[in-house]
Amino acid sequence: MQKVYFPRRTVLKSTADWHSGSIASQRIHGGLTEQELRIHGLSCYEVLDFSVNINPLGPPLSAMEALASLDPARYPDPHNLRLREAISVLNQVPAEQIVIGNGSTELIHLSADLLLSDNRPVVIMAPTFGEYECAVRKRGAEVHFFEASCADQFRWDMEGALQGIPPLQPSLIFLCNPNNPTGVYLSRQDVERLISAVAPVMVVLDESYACFAESRWVATDLLVHSNVIILRSLTKEYALAGLRVGYAMASEQTCRGLHSLQPSWSVNAAAQAAALAALDEDDYTDKSRRCIQEAKYYLRQELERIGFSVYDSAANFLLVEAGDAPLLRILLLQQGICVRDCSSFGLPQYIRVGIRTMKECAHLVEALEEISRASFADPCMRIPPSSWEAGIFRRSSPPNAENLPAADSPASVDRARTARVRHL
Ligand SMILES: Cc1ncc(COP(=O)(O)O)c(C=O)c1O
Repeated sequence: MQKVYFPRRTVLKSTADWHSGSIASQRIHGGLTEQELRIHGLSCYEVLDFSVNINPLGPPLSAMEALASLDPARYPDPHNLRLREAISVLNQVPAEQIVIGNGSTELIHLSADLLLSDNRPVVIMAPTFGEYECAVRKRGAEVHFFEASCADQFRWDMEGALQGIPPLQPSLIFLCNPNNPTGVYLSRQDVERLISAVAPVMVVLDESYACFAESRWVATDLLVHSNVIILRSLTKEYALAGLRVGYAMASEQTCRGLHSLQPSWSVNAAAQAAALAALDEDDYTDKSRRCIQEAKYYLRQELERIGFSVYDSAANFLLVEAGDAPLLRILLLQQGICVRDCSSFGLPQYIRVGIRTMKECAHLVEALEEISRASFADPCMRIPPSSWEAGIFRRSSPPNAENLPAADSPASVDRARTARVRHL
């Protein structure tokens, strides 16, 4: 039987809510804020960060050299011409069909700004990256979520999508492929069927993690359809997250529209220079993909050995059933390790683990094993051993001062310090 398509949430209609901060405060991403680091007595250099999904090899040396020789007194090229030309050669797409953004995040927002129209909803293939919803809410549009469920291994019912989405007459559809946080990677055929079924409605196909995908297929051919915007993130591919650089490929007309809405000099000179140098690397992405695949295989095996359920993922991260993700995140943080609690994706029982190097993955495994031992010995954690045996962390009651060690308690800060010495 086909699954019923239904709207999960209706968004706030008032932009006043956005500006008052009630929505902005819901933006939750990987990585740690300075505020949380301070609570734990850590600096960002002391945390082994599995909560972000960036290239574990770090930026290529050539990008670092380009940054070192940069003249910050010069304005960046507002048209990003050299970068667009380099991307054009790599992807065999005309430079006029490429827009560079301050991270792909800016391009998500520009797409919503360009394409949302009054009284028409937006469809988001969920659970997925929260920024799509933010970009839509900001404009006061209604959102329909086409949800995949854990019972289906988070794979969408594509037949249901093909039938259920067109009658909604959306103004825009967001599809992340491979999807964050589930790692589900739709085939070219599925994506093309969706694009054709909803035409002329625009589909934003976010390929931020496609560069790391196993069995990758090339989506640029889909640009023959004028209703697709393909997004890529160089911040992920070359670990340039602090510089912010991504790109969109679409029809010339759509690219002109996106660019016209962009603030001048949105992509700074450092981002342009580092991205240009990185793109000139011959086999950096291939090498990174091999390294990720090896470490992912190892980590998955180890997590399953400990007893966790791990979902198939084509991307550079794993979705792991943890029972109580906020609790497990805190316990790991006390050991100087950060994972992504998936509560903001609507999946509070899951964590997402970005793949890092083998050695770093081994630290994570070691920390999880230590938490398992402590869960038997430390009554303040109150994790029933039976839960641990099932590989799942559960609290017997909601988190409070009683059943969770206070994040800034001397004990927890002490643990974090010990962990730092051990891991780093
Ligand atoms: C699916 C997806 N798209 C886009 C982004 C944003 O990437 P960028 O750093 O290029 O803005 C992220 C970041 O986490 C993401 O997960």
